[in-house]
Amino acid sequence: MNRDKARLADPVACDPPPALNTYSARADSVLARVLPSPDQAPQELHRAMRYAVLGGGKRLRPVLVYAVGVALDAAPERLDASAAAVEIIHAYSLVHDDLPAMDDDQLRRGRPTCHVAFGEAMAILAGDALQALAFEVLAADPAMRDDANTHVEMLRTLAAACGSHGMAGGQALDLSAVGQRLTPDQLERMHVHKTGALIRASVRLGALAARCRDDVLLAALEQYGHCVGLAFQIRDDIIDVEGDSTVIGKTAGKDAANAKPTYPAIVGMDASCAQLAHLTDRAIAALQPYGRRMDELVALARYVAEREN
Ligand code: IPE
Ligand code: IPE
Ligand code: MG
Ligand code: MG
Ligand code: MG
Repeated sequence: MNRDKARLADPVACDPPPALNTYSARADSVLARVLPSPDQAPQELHRAMRYAVLGGGKRLRPVLVYAVGVALDAAPERLDASAAAVEIIHAYSLVHDDLPAMDDDQLRRGRPTCHVAFGEAMAILAGDALQALAFEVLAADPAMRDDANTHVEMLRTLAAACGSHGMAGGQALDLSAVGQRLTPDQLERMHVHKTGALIRASVRLGALAARCRDDVLLAALEQYGHCVGLAFQIRDDIIDVEGDSTVIGKTAGKDAANAKPTYPAIVGMDASCAQLAHLTDRAIAALQPYGRRMDELVALARYVAEREN
């Protein structure tokens, strides 16, 4: 992909792949079911949790769980708990990411951020409770009752992805990097942790729920997840510069305003677009030996590179 394509992808190439719509609708209904009712005490906390998760978002992480699992012949019901769990973790990470102590953002998914709508203390608690809920949902997964070893490995995969060696660690790197001039290697490390880890885990959870025991295939999916995860954050950095707040649903230009080290800031826009294209090619190449059954995952990798929001 050249820079012009990445900047202004043509409308056909930019159409979300059908899998995104089908699986995101499925994820929405599972999420609405597993979140606590807003009428149940403590109502304000439950309302904040539902606000943070429902009513927006691309659902890319659950979509990846479904797309991987279905490619490996799992029934979608087998994937519901993993799909919901990764999205709930993601929603919690966004609530905390937007807090005044972190990125201090007022707009998320085209609406006021959780702390703007519910206050800072309630937003912190909503994030805490969402993280716990994600593990409760995955631990209670009825589909995994027949395979305790795999079930524990799934829980470990999710925990590792959101802890200090995963998303939370990446967020710590992000915060300590404000105003700093990172090297490209340090920048990649930050992105691979803060965003890549949960995307990689989504891919692995889909494979584990599908009972994949093929180490070569798991390694190919790992490579795919790694490349898509890093590509996703590079694209996020690019659309923060080039996107419009009404399209991205967040305040555009916030990275520069917050002195965040991003791909465009550190390596420049042309090199960011080239890196995005290279990662997309690598993600697709990893799946190439598996043929047409990986078509949805190939389409999703392209979508990640071309998305406008
Ligand atoms: C935003 O993630 C935060 C990043 C990790 C870059 P998304 O772009 O997936 O946000 P939603 O879920 O679609 O709102
Ligand atoms: C967020 O990265 C990563 C996580 C939430 C873990 P950003 O700070 O770039 O995400 P946005 O741009 O606010 O969505
Ligand atoms: Mg951030
Ligand atoms: Mg942010
Ligand atoms: Mg961003």
